[in-house]
Amino acid sequence: MFHMGWFLHYGFGVYGWNQQWSGNVAADVGQPGLFKDMATSLERAGFDYMMIEDSSVVPDVYQGSLEFSLRNGVVRHDPMALVPLLAGVTSRIGIIATAATTFYPPFLAARLFTTLDHLTDGRVGLNLVTASPHAAAQNYGYEKHFEHDLRYEMADEWMDLVTALWESWEPGALVLDEDNHVFADHTKIHPINFEGRFYKSRGPLNTVPGPQRRPVICQAGGSPAGRDVAAKHADTVVALVSGIEAMKEYRDDMSARLIAHGRKPSDAKVLFLVSPVLADTDEDAKVKLERQKAAQVANFEPALAGLSYTSGMDFSTFDLDAPLPDLTGKSNGHQSMVADLQRVAGAKTLRQTLTDKASGIGSIQIVGSPDSVAVQMGEIMEYVGGDGFLIGSEVTRKNITEVADGLAPALRRRGLMRSGYSSALFRENLMEF
Ligand SMILES: Cc1cc2nc3c(=O)[nH]c(=O)nc-3n(C[C@H](O)[C@H](O)[C@H](O)COP(=O)(O)O)c2cc1C
Repeated sequence: MFHMGWFLHYGFGVYGWNQQWSGNVAADVGQPGLFKDMATSLERAGFDYMMIEDSSVVPDVYQGSLEFSLRNGVVRHDPMALVPLLAGVTSRIGIIATAATTFYPPFLAARLFTTLDHLTDGRVGLNLVTASPHAAAQNYGYEKHFEHDLRYEMADEWMDLVTALWESWEPGALVLDEDNHVFADHTKIHPINFEGRFYKSRGPLNTVPGPQRRPVICQAGGSPAGRDVAAKHADTVVALVSGIEAMKEYRDDMSARLIAHGRKPSDAKVLFLVSPVLADTDEDAKVKLERQKAAQVANFEPALAGLSYTSGMDFSTFDLDAPLPDLTGKSNGHQSMVADLQRVAGAKTLRQTLTDKASGIGSIQIVGSPDSVAVQMGEIMEYVGGDGFLIGSEVTRKNITEVADGLAPALRRRGLMRSGYSSALFRENLMEF
């Protein structure tokens, strides 16, 4: 049995703008309806969590302009406000929202996530990212972004501080003794007086601990520095690497890092990003994949814009018919993704690399009817030794239905996916197997 999550890759943003099956985007912008429908569908399906991506920029690295992003609806609303609305229509699924440690004051984040833990009845998670674009840093008043590995040192300390705040109320501190007029026992609530290299805070938190006390921590950094922060702090790791061998290497490497941090390999569930191509039959699914690939090969702009965003380098300046230049050590963005692209590209031209990759975001291509896809997913997880998959498909009601009402039942029939939730708390469900 493995875990399932869904990655909302444009956060609380716009999906499928001007494409088939995107619904009424114009009326839906900034509205929660699609995401509420998604939450109820994925809970019906037995998903562990939804993971809401976030960033603070209108990407403008591609062609040095805002134009591509704004023509294509690359906008994001604040995910934090969406969390209680999704919790209000569900009762078991976990809801993870992204916070950039580099910009979020730790005290505000600790307080916000404790509050969200109450409002979700113990189902909130925090996706820890360091953010990558210089523009994001500039939106928060910095001249440019911090250097890649330094950001992870900051994130590590940020998590230590936030954790200390969550622990500033000892268990049993909340007394609620009306007869003796004691709300909380002040001897069990302590200042933290945290003074680190980057952050300082006095504490204690002026917020009653939530049902989980500590929200589920999610982490996505794939570089050695990112994986180390995950190994120290995360309950779930979301990973994107190309190919089954790289997936296996990732899980094995995380196990070793977890042990080095005094934890068990099973203490962090590693979910791999995939965008399965589903249809009624295997043949239909193959035709659908070919059609999707043809559309992507006919227009490389979205792929180039995406790579520009993640790498921080303008891919419109690279020759499509030449091999990818050596980008080693040049990106201050998502370094492991650049390294993965370089490895996959090898001596191929950029056009050929993008053509080969043109099949949706994900670590491995999975295509077929719900039953075939379920079988493939089972085999992949068995080999990789990982803990599950994170669906990265476009958030449309059609895709949600294919996964929630087609794939999930097929997985369940094979005993690969949960048939219910044994706890009301997100972390307990995640740690159940
Ligand atoms: C599934 C997944 C989800 C991610 N979500 C976010 C996000 O919401 N916001 C963000 O700034 N970065 C996000 N990232 C990027 C990571 O935080 C990280 O920068 C990237 O995986 C590269 O890791 P590295 O910088 O350690 O090389 C995500 C990455 C993956 C694989």
